[in-house]
Amino acid sequence: FAQRDAPRPLAGRHALVTSGPTHEAIDPVRYIANRSSGKQGHAVAAALAALGARVTLVSGPVRLTDPAGVTVVPVETAAEMLAACRAALPADIFVAAAAVADWRVDGAAEQKLKKDGGGPPALRLAENPDILATLSAPGPERPALVIGFAAETNDVQTYARAKRQRKGCDWIVANDVSPATGTFGGDRNSVHVIRADGQEDIWTDLPKTEVAARLATAIVDHFGNGKI
Ligand code: CTP
Ligand code: CA
Repeated sequence: FAQRDAPRPLAGRHALVTSGPTHEAIDPVRYIANRSSGKQGHAVAAALAALGARVTLVSGPVRLTDPAGVTVVPVETAAEMLAACRAALPADIFVAAAAVADWRVDGAAEQKLKKDGGGPPALRLAENPDILATLSAPGPERPALVIGFAAETNDVQTYARAKRQRKGCDWIVANDVSPATGTFGGDRNSVHVIRADGQEDIWTDLPKTEVAARLATAIVDHFGNGKI
């Protein structure tokens, strides 16, 4: 009943969401990763689907069940995540919630690295493509609304405002990932939502599912206000 009668204000819209960490190979058995659980990105995907959007969720390795009604594209590396996002375009909405590894190992070993008595290997790193900046760039395929996340410590708002401009996205959802906040891997989040038009909202100490629901509602309002 509730399902059938639920309003679907995002019906006809395609939302592309990234979530989770990426894993960057060192050799066939080892990788560089980060502490992202994917909880926030998966919750955003679920919230957008619940409002009627067609949702493609490009996710790094996570220990979560696939959200209902969402097409999940599993990836491991940043390069794979970018390719999967490009392949999923066009989209009306892009939400970059993944904690993409900033660096990969340049020339990962094809065989397992062995201790050879010569001391530990030096890993040379190469910078990964910036998926958010790439999809934010002006062009015919740019989604109408591009939303980034920002994991910051210290002066969260100042860093996040600068990051939004640098990336070229419309909104940025910034959270404080200082270890004391327990954000990474936890179930709750406190965020600043910073928009290109200067509007800023602060949502404090909410379940990640509630942050997702509020973000989805803000997205509905945005499209409803004819700002597209
Ligand atoms: N992001 C991305 N591709 C990358 C790095 C980041 O798409 N290679 C996205 C994230 O999904 C997030 C936003 O960019 O939406 C900000 O990520 P963050 O790590 O906070 O920013 P960086 O630009 O990587 O800056 P830094 O880690 O140095 O603060
Ligand atoms: Ca980063």
